[in-house]
Amino acid sequence: MQSSLLPHMLHGCDYNPDQWLDRPDILEEDIQYMKKAGINCVSLGIFAWAALEPEEGVYTFGWLGEIIENLHQNGIVTFLATPSGARPVWMAKKYPEVLRTGSDLVRGEMGDRHNHCYTSPVYREKVYAVNKKLAETFGSHPAVKLWHLSNEYGGECFCPLCVAAFRRWLETKYQTVNAVNDAWWTRFWSHTYTDWSQIDPPLTRGEHCTQGLKLDWMRFVTAQTVDFMTWEKKAVRDGGSSLPVTANFMGFYDGLNYSKFAPLLDVVSWDSYPSWHSDAETDAGVAVHTAASHDLMRSILPDKPWLLMESTPSCTNWQPVSKVKRPGMHMLSSMQAVAHGSDSVQYFQWRKSRGSCEKFHGAVVSHDRRSDTRVFGDVAGLGKRLASLDALIGSVPRPQAAVLYDRENDWAIKGSAGPRNAGMGYQETVVRHYQALWQMGIGCDLPDMEADLSRYAFIAAPMLYMQRAGIAEKLRRFVENGGVLVGTCFSGLVDENDLCFLSDAPNGLVDVFGVRAEEFSGLYDNEFNHTIWSDRCYAMSSIIELVRPEGASVLAAFENDFYRGEPSLTVNHYGKGKAYYIAGGAGLPLLSDLYAQLADELNLPRALDAELPEGVTAQTRMKGDRTFVVAQNYQQYPARIHLHTPIRDLETGEEVSLLELSPYGVRVLEK
Ligand code: GLA
Ligand code: ZN
Repeated sequence: MQSSLLPHMLHGCDYNPDQWLDRPDILEEDIQYMKKAGINCVSLGIFAWAALEPEEGVYTFGWLGEIIENLHQNGIVTFLATPSGARPVWMAKKYPEVLRTGSDLVRGEMGDRHNHCYTSPVYREKVYAVNKKLAETFGSHPAVKLWHLSNEYGGECFCPLCVAAFRRWLETKYQTVNAVNDAWWTRFWSHTYTDWSQIDPPLTRGEHCTQGLKLDWMRFVTAQTVDFMTWEKKAVRDGGSSLPVTANFMGFYDGLNYSKFAPLLDVVSWDSYPSWHSDAETDAGVAVHTAASHDLMRSILPDKPWLLMESTPSCTNWQPVSKVKRPGMHMLSSMQAVAHGSDSVQYFQWRKSRGSCEKFHGAVVSHDRRSDTRVFGDVAGLGKRLASLDALIGSVPRPQAAVLYDRENDWAIKGSAGPRNAGMGYQETVVRHYQALWQMGIGCDLPDMEADLSRYAFIAAPMLYMQRAGIAEKLRRFVENGGVLVGTCFSGLVDENDLCFLSDAPNGLVDVFGVRAEEFSGLYDNEFNHTIWSDRCYAMSSIIELVRPEGASVLAAFENDFYRGEPSLTVNHYGKGKAYYIAGGAGLPLLSDLYAQLADELNLPRALDAELPEGVTAQTRMKGDRTFVVAQNYQQYPARIHLHTPIRDLETGEEVSLLELSPYGVRVLEK
């Protein structure tokens, strides 16, 4: 990047002064408090369309110019948003086509946000005009550093314009209606189409059994959103601005395949709102899921730092129960993002709104307008710490391990009636494989099937149900060249259209794994099988497979049921590498033991040369010949870690061989 959006770590927030334009005292206070909190960047204008264009074609940018300039005078840079995340009322009333239509074919009325049609020519024209004008007006202001395109792109529209666009998209992809029938296996239940005009998206009261249709619809929604973002970007370019662009994403959000946005992005950014202190999960458990989300987002552009565009300094107001962060958690969770490669910590939002639906969402400044609150103190404390960590700017994790996670595979697994309609747990499985590495302090990417996999030494590819074009060949080459691959049950079963392969499973990889899978079966939620490996007994759950060795060595077998004695864990040497196959849903204990052994064999770099206690992890960021380590303790009690190789505390300069972490403590170190 672009890491040098600023020569400093960024500490910022969504700033919505358009809600306060009649309160100069508040605007004045904002600047004073921002300086006090160590804020050096703000995202401006995110939902400000009504203030920017109060009437059609009448642009009132004066206030924005004053705010940008005032921030600039006070050393704060601007990420300028395009306002397309919410439209003004006049537009919805005058041009109803900009409003989104649901899968029940009912068009929404004016209200809420993120609910416009991405196809509507009127919406696109209005967005283009305001974006271009913003770029012309502010694109070369010295304090404007980045375009924040829209806000959290997402959702789908079923209006006639979108349906027509979907049919055109299908026509381009398949050329003939018969090719669609073949790809979607429509002869089943006589769903054969004879004309493009008969193809509807998956409507509430319509087609749900044609899996190929559902997948293509989700691909179309992604393509249409990418196209919309391309259009937004073109508008700012046509307005003369060549500034880098980002769009704030949502981690494991399942409505879009984010990797398709990669070519449009200069920098990845995302909004992270973990449910810390939940009753269903320990903080360490929440930390694992959050870490995986950071790495998933980072993996969109794996060689670049990214930005934590939004987080809350205290609580949300939309979780079932919204809890404030306990003392220490703000520092820890913010530094977690930094540990995984973020060059920023930013908040939603700077100041709590007085009214409407987010008035109780945590913000840096609350309704009491004080700067001596606990939350403000936490934020200012982090600001101070970030200001001393400029050495980290531009460094990246560069892991040698990966857990393959593929959005289209996720859609396909969720949409397929199969062995466990009670939940296949693909994401949970991916995160469990990830956790086995995380708890050792081994960095990990989460690439999808389109990514370059040759850069890794170790790849876990659990539940690779769908094989997108070329993946079997890629994995074969990976193992051939010396990589270690772990595959699991429910892999290599269907192609991109969800058509089952008429071959042994896992398709195209039987000789690589040295096994073929003959049957799979679901297990009830509280049902387990067991397997014994290296004298330890492990539970296996969710789904099991009956596999036949075709050259692999059997390392362990199932203990229970009629298939007792059949392989549960196998390994096969192939080319210069090897491929493990786990024939059932493996829990964390088995994955932990297996991956610890493989990590040693492969010499996968651990952030700290030590055994890490439960709830403690560390991540690495590298730049040139410098290696930084961020150690984190997600327990509410202290941790003491004996390091086999001492390390230097970057912040104190002290040489450390007994690493002490306070409850929720975090330390930044350099190797
Ligand atoms: C999202 C949005 C913000 C705000 C926050 C609240 O991330 O982008 O505008 O609504 O959620 O958590
Ligand atoms: Zn539409």
